[in-house]
Amino acid sequence: MGTILVTGGAGYIGSHVVLKLAERGEDVVVLDNLSTGFRSAVLHGDLMIGDTADRHLVSKLLEARRVDAVMHFAAHIVVPESVEQPLKYYRNNTCATGSLLECCIESGVRHFVFSSTAAVYGIPATGRAGEDAPTEPINPYGTSKLVSEWMLRDAARVSSLDYVALRYFNVAGADFAGRIGQSTPNATHLVKVACEHVVGKRDHVPVFGNDYDTPDGTCVRDYVHVEDLAAAHLDALDYLRQGGGSATLNCGYGRGFSVHEVLGAVRRVSGETLNVVPAPRRPGDPPQLVAVAERIRDLLGWTPRHDDLEEIVSSALAWERRLLSGPMT
Ligand code: UFG
Repeated sequence: MGTILVTGGAGYIGSHVVLKLAERGEDVVVLDNLSTGFRSAVLHGDLMIGDTADRHLVSKLLEARRVDAVMHFAAHIVVPESVEQPLKYYRNNTCATGSLLECCIESGVRHFVFSSTAAVYGIPATGRAGEDAPTEPINPYGTSKLVSEWMLRDAARVSSLDYVALRYFNVAGADFAGRIGQSTPNATHLVKVACEHVVGKRDHVPVFGNDYDTPDGTCVRDYVHVEDLAAAHLDALDYLRQGGGSATLNCGYGRGFSVHEVLGAVRRVSGETLNVVPAPRRPGDPPQLVAVAERIRDLLGWTPRHDDLEEIVSSALAWERRLLSGPMT
């Protein structure tokens, strides 16, 4: 087995995958420009500081390390920012992925695991999205990833590269050993925002909209533990190494929780009362986004182990407490 290049391996999800690769004794090289990642999150493999779009660097790296599989996490991921600065997202997510793919194909890389997103679905009519649901993103972030999926599909057809694109639903939680977790400043994600409130970093949790057509009026999402999500990447790699064909798969548990249900779990886990403040709807929020998630289990044999909202919240909260003792570097 050759080396695995992990772009964005110093970021939240990439660093969890790197740890899992380490547990299996894989040879890993991380490429990260540290724009949002942290050097100290890379607990295994070699860290190269640089840009995915740097063709010269990437080609040299692929050749020198005899890379035969790439896991591509490096991307900007903040939906509202993508609305304000769309070209930043197309450059960093879409164009950089195209450039990386060209280098991979030139160097004979065989397998490619791509971080895609449930944001490609936009607002699914029924609130649930299977992989064949229409892809109609409602923000540049989702479009930047969807176009990358198309490039991957078309490039794979005419090369020896095969791929798995994983469409993540709402990723949350942290490493159970407390070594790494979501560390981005100015977080916008609900679980992290609520945990930051519990540890005193925020004075309230806003609830964006309470008049949606959902059971309690707040938005419903499919929250997935980052440990299970990370495991799906290793399953994807195994599947490709065994000769499985290219595939695009949802990565979610297939059940949803409302904002109030998430906040209820945060109360139970922390034992704290929360200062919850109603706020206007946030532009671009689909009322409900839950995965139809059978295909990934059938095809990859993915077996989630942490499908438990309180477990997700308690690991996220433990990480938030750990961050109080000093920021990531
Ligand atoms: N929310 C609040 N208050 C907050 C933060 C969030 O009420 O302080 C609400 C949001 O309005 C939404 C829900 O909580 O209804 C979840 O919001 P997140 O920001 O945690 O996550 P999103 O569903 O907006 O987006 C996430 C990822 C995207 C991905 C999408 C796919 O950030 O990258 O899931 O489902 F595309």
